[in-house]
Amino acid sequence: MTDRIIELRDIRKSYGQVYALGGVDLHVDQGEVVGLVGDNGAGKSTLIKILAGAVRPTSGEILVRGRPVHGWDAAQSRAAGIETVFQDRALAVQQSITWNIFMGREITGPFGFLRAGKQREEASRLMREIGFTSKVFGPDSIVGQLSGGERQGVAIARAIYNRSDLIILDEPTTALSLTETAKVFHFVEQARAAGRSILFIGHNIHHVYDISDRFVVLDRGRVASQITKAELGSADALVRFMEELAHPSPKTEKAGKA
Ligand SMILES: Nc1ncnc2c1ncn2[C@@H]1O[C@H](COP(=O)(O)OP(=O)(O)OP(=O)(O)O)[C@@H](O)[C@H]1O
Ligand SMILES: [Mg+2]
Repeated sequence: MTDRIIELRDIRKSYGQVYALGGVDLHVDQGEVVGLVGDNGAGKSTLIKILAGAVRPTSGEILVRGRPVHGWDAAQSRAAGIETVFQDRALAVQQSITWNIFMGREITGPFGFLRAGKQREEASRLMREIGFTSKVFGPDSIVGQLSGGERQGVAIARAIYNRSDLIILDEPTTALSLTETAKVFHFVEQARAAGRSILFIGHNIHHVYDISDRFVVLDRGRVASQITKAELGSADALVRFMEELAHPSPKTEKAGKA
């Protein structure tokens, strides 16, 4: 049994004349947090839509636990244990925390009766598991009353309930305050501690740096670097690397052309 959850090989995606992805290799292993970074238009969202099965690549290979898959789509992605949390469309805000965690996969008893008490208990347990501690909010609280970071927590709790091995978070902290961001980090840490892998997309390099074990830097549809936190040493090193990609110094440009 391989601990490689998913692997993309030479994935290309074009929209007419536009190459959103020009041959990307990417993998995520069990229990790691991978930070996906890159400038606007680098191809990050396209890449995760492909992982989620929402967009079909023009060419390339997808392997799930070492095995090539065919006709990859959203249902296969979910069946493979991948859950993608898109920030705005993630939750039903008029519904309770419990409803949002179970939607579509309710716990039923004999005869198909919904076991409401059991669901509330399970929702509380999951929220505790990800480190959601609140004296104000409980399983019946309406998600619309929660802060942005707490909502991300509900989405992560749901992914854990769905037994997702890989949770993909697209810019989960972009619209959030520092306190809220810290909450999301905490939830991510707890999910990792529970053995889940996370692919974390973000604009704020310092945020992504803090939370990730490894980084994939996309640049105009290609992987410019795959590097571990230990190899980088600091968030500033990652920032410098990305600035260099955006505005190559004359020396590097020459070297690049050679
Ligand atoms: N549906 C589409 N039709 C045409 N072009 C598209 C489509 N989706 C993405 N693109 C193009 O593909 C490239 C990559 O876009 P993508 O959204 O993946 O970038 P991104 O890294 O997520 O950027 P951002 O940081 O701004 O979210 C861009 O040039 C974009 O204009
Ligand atoms: Mg995007």
